[in-house]
Amino acid sequence: MPPSRSAAPDGQRDRPGFVLLTSHWLTRLGLVLVITAICTWLFFLPAGHSEHGGENPYRGLVVYLILPSVFALGLVLGVIGVFAGRKRIRDRLAAGTLNSATAVRGLIVFLAVTLAGNLLIGSQASYRAIQYLETPQFCGGVCHSERPEFVAHRDSNHASVACAECHVAPGQAGWIQSKMNGTRQLWQEITNTYERPCPPALASGRLVPSRETCEHCHWAQKIVATRLLLIPSYAEDERNTVSYTVLLMLVGGTRMQGIHNAHFAGGYEIRYAASDAMRETIPWVERRNTRTGETQTYLADGTKADQAAGLDKHTMQCVDCHNRPTHDFLLPGRALDRALALGRIPNTLPFVKKEGLALLKADYASNAEAAWKIPEAIAAYYAKGYPQIAAERPADVAAAGKAIAAVYDRNVFLDQKVTWGTYANNLGHVDFPGCFRCHDGSHETSDKKHAINQDCSSCHEVLAQDEESPAILKKLGVWDHIEAMKSR
Ligand code: HEC
Ligand code: HEC
Ligand code: HEC
Ligand code: HEC
Ligand code: HEC
Repeated sequence: MPPSRSAAPDGQRDRPGFVLLTSHWLTRLGLVLVITAICTWLFFLPAGHSEHGGENPYRGLVVYLILPSVFALGLVLGVIGVFAGRKRIRDRLAAGTLNSATAVRGLIVFLAVTLAGNLLIGSQASYRAIQYLETPQFCGGVCHSERPEFVAHRDSNHASVACAECHVAPGQAGWIQSKMNGTRQLWQEITNTYERPCPPALASGRLVPSRETCEHCHWAQKIVATRLLLIPSYAEDERNTVSYTVLLMLVGGTRMQGIHNAHFAGGYEIRYAASDAMRETIPWVERRNTRTGETQTYLADGTKADQAAGLDKHTMQCVDCHNRPTHDFLLPGRALDRALALGRIPNTLPFVKKEGLALLKADYASNAEAAWKIPEAIAAYYAKGYPQIAAERPADVAAAGKAIAAVYDRNVFLDQKVTWGTYANNLGHVDFPGCFRCHDGSHETSDKKHAINQDCSSCHEVLAQDEESPAILKKLGVWDHIEAMKSR
């Protein structure tokens, strides 16, 4: 007579949960992974959830991505192990050492507990993971390829606007698209196969249209009217003589004449075709009245209509002018002028602009080398040429060296092949072609009657150009403030 299941003496029964969890090596491995993940997670938790500031980017990677993945893997292995070990379990059931009712109850309890654990950790982790994936720390802190953009962003008027606000289209589709791009980038990062320098997002066709990003916070309808720009520049003479350019920008708005109005006034749409990926050369421009359907086409001097026909057409949007609202990389002269104007470099050190410029333009093997060579060269320059200054103002000399090295580190990223001028800023026409890609006077209608306007005063009133003490600033009553700031 086969032993009835209930007949097995209590002492010989296995604990059912124990049998399930130890019946196969995969289950045992899964268990180890789950426990390790939970313990590590508990260990990391008290370090705080701050998404901002100087948090180590790798901490987020571990807490929000790696640990939950290990946890989930452990559970999956556990289930596979139970499945793979089902024969052994069945044997024990048959042998009567295991009570099937208790085993099933044990299994249900086990599944309920792990499911609850999974939901708790999973929902917490995935919520945090999603938040974390949107932070600048993840976007720019983990990927070396994005370091230049990360550094520039931190130093811009958009520092508190998350990367995703400008780079991810709203809604689920945009989110999924961005995570697919992110996965590809992560793979390129791991295998070290990403492009250097990283191509501008407009050039690679990956930039989300401005309408879905910029225009959530800004809008062309806003009446800006005018903006007064004061641009200081320092000469390369002994005194670092400062002069000012004063521009009154005629920004306008869609309901007011001006720059924004000219490109976005109700019913008008401007399209253009570029012959290079960076959109630097624009042979074809069209302005269309969407209400009447009337179009005006401008061709650059020497372009034939059929040459432009095969090129991709782009509808003009905010980022065609404001392409560097947050990742602005300056040319060396401008970057130094800014550091001098902000007082980071003491402008009373003789020839500091000239020396700084030469050092910024020199060749270095790495950013790390520039970081010590530049301060050393500045110290050596004053020790040799101006020993009295070197002796009396060592703090100023050191500050200048440090600040010039910081200017280098803010704009040049040798490991990413980003150097002076790699990324053009299209808002202007002095450092890069910018507005003059179209407004160069050579883009004409076929009857030659009309050219895209190059009249200086259609975009701005040049109130002063490179003047040491512009009369206009005195008239506006701001000169005293500027003098006071200079003497500080
Ligand atoms: C205010 C909007 C805005 C924010 C915020 C922003 N970006 Fe960008 N980003 C842009 C625009 C516009 C471009 C396209 C520049 C071009 O094509 O000339 C761009 C381009 C890039 C590029 C391509 C390389 C380049 O310089 O063109 C990378 C990489 C990048 N951004 C990363 C980031 C990271 C990382 C963050 C967050 C730390 C971030 N961006 C935040 C607007 C933004
Ligand atoms: C999440 C909101 C947000 C988004 C998205 C955003 N901005 Fe801004 N932007 C701001 C804030 C905040 C400021 C700072 C306001 C100020 O300076 O008064 C600003 C300032 C600006 C300025 C003036 C600052 C200056 O340096 O003169 C420009 C131009 C600008 N943004 C363009 C853009 C463009 C172009 C985009 C899209 C690529 C964009 N912004 C996306 C919030 C945003
Ligand atoms: C044809 C080029 C061009 C286009 C296209 C353009 N802008 Fe501007 N925008 C300018 C110029 C030039 C200025 C003045 C820059 C300055 O003062 O430094 C300006 C100034 C601004 C400012 C700062 C003024 C303020 O509000 O204080 C914002 C914000 C701005 N633009 C947003 C936008 C948005 C949003 C779009 C897209 C709807 C857009 N711009 C499209 C050229 C353009
Ligand atoms: C892709 C080509 C293109 C670019 C780039 C471009 N514009 Fe224009 N812009 C046009 C066209 C087309 C018109 C309409 C034709 C005209 O009125 O001359 C126009 C008209 C204007 C006008 C009105 C001129 C008038 O006669 O009243 C202003 C002002 C202007 N743009 C400013 C700018 C500024 C500032 C920039 C750079 C930040 C810029 N544009 C960049 C194509 C462009
Ligand atoms: C299509 C519009 C447009 C036209 C035409 C134009 N400018 Fe400008 N200009 C700009 C913009 C935009 C800036 C950059 C403003 C900024 O820095 O934000 C600029 C900047 C400047 C600056 C400042 C340079 C600096 O040091 O940063 C000077 C000087 C200047 N323009 C002179 C002129 C003169 C002279 C003409 C006529 C030959 C002219 N511009 C025609 C749009 C225009």
